[in-house]
Amino acid sequence: MMKTVLLTFLLVGVFLSGALAKKRGRNKKDKSTFDNVIELGAEESEVEISEKVEGVSPCATKECDRGELCTEVNGKARCGCLEVCHEELDPKYSVCSTKNVTYGSECHLDRDHCLCRKGKPGCSNANARKIHLDYFGVCKELTPCPDKEMEQFPIRMRDWLFAVMRELANRHMLDEYLDMLEDARRDDMHADAVLWKFCDLDNHPRDRHVTRRELLFIISAIKPMEHCLVPFLDECDKDDDHKITLAEWGQCLGLESDVIVDKCRDIQDKALKG
Ligand SMILES: *[C@@H]1O[C@H](CO)[C@@H](O)[C@H](O)[C@H]1NC(C)=O
Repeated sequence: MMKTVLLTFLLVGVFLSGALAKKRGRNKKDKSTFDNVIELGAEESEVEISEKVEGVSPCATKECDRGELCTEVNGKARCGCLEVCHEELDPKYSVCSTKNVTYGSECHLDRDHCLCRKGKPGCSNANARKIHLDYFGVCKELTPCPDKEMEQFPIRMRDWLFAVMRELANRHMLDEYLDMLEDARRDDMHADAVLWKFCDLDNHPRDRHVTRRELLFIISAIKPMEHCLVPFLDECDKDDDHKITLAEWGQCLGLESDVIVDKCRDIQDKALKG
């Protein structure tokens, strides 16, 4: 995951180069599948206590929610809200929440999420029970995606995915997908780069469709700079079920249905077998 995120930042420049020079227009959608609406679940659990396993620290097997820290109390694991976050002075660590509130870092946002969820003192807004990351960076005015850019978006996205693939290969990080790069080189549409991204995104879990959860990282990294990304993903999700199938992904990236071949499983299975 981390390597993809790093490259996302790295290559956002390539991705954006086409868009920046263009004039900005207006076409705002009221409701967006991929914008601010998904709850990430499993967040209502109260402080949980698990029994100590002989000889192992109880926190070793305990999973706390985001913004929480496990401490051992009387031999039992206890998840409590983080008491402090490192004070980040550099705005590059800032994050913007879905309520358009800037936090010093993701840690600060997660901590506030925990405090507010548990109704603890220090919560920034008692009415906000769910505080989510919207994007990395200070909150700002996000400009709408003009129709013209939206039309060009699939082409830019395909070229960008191909560029990311090449860059990963240069860094010996493309792993099992190296053969797909060869295929992606062979056609102008870079269909295999489009397929590769789908295989890569459909990872948590591998269930043949890409959900908002799987897209969360890429969205929060690119959203503040690339105003067409969220409207584009909404378009991809043709049947509005908050999931993108491979067919939908290929289609919204402008591929003919006969080139959309599901290679993910074969490649991933082969890699697992080593
Ligand atoms: C979010 O906050 C920024 C910075 O304060 C502001 O410029 C922008 O208009 C806000 N956006 C919305 C949708 O309120």
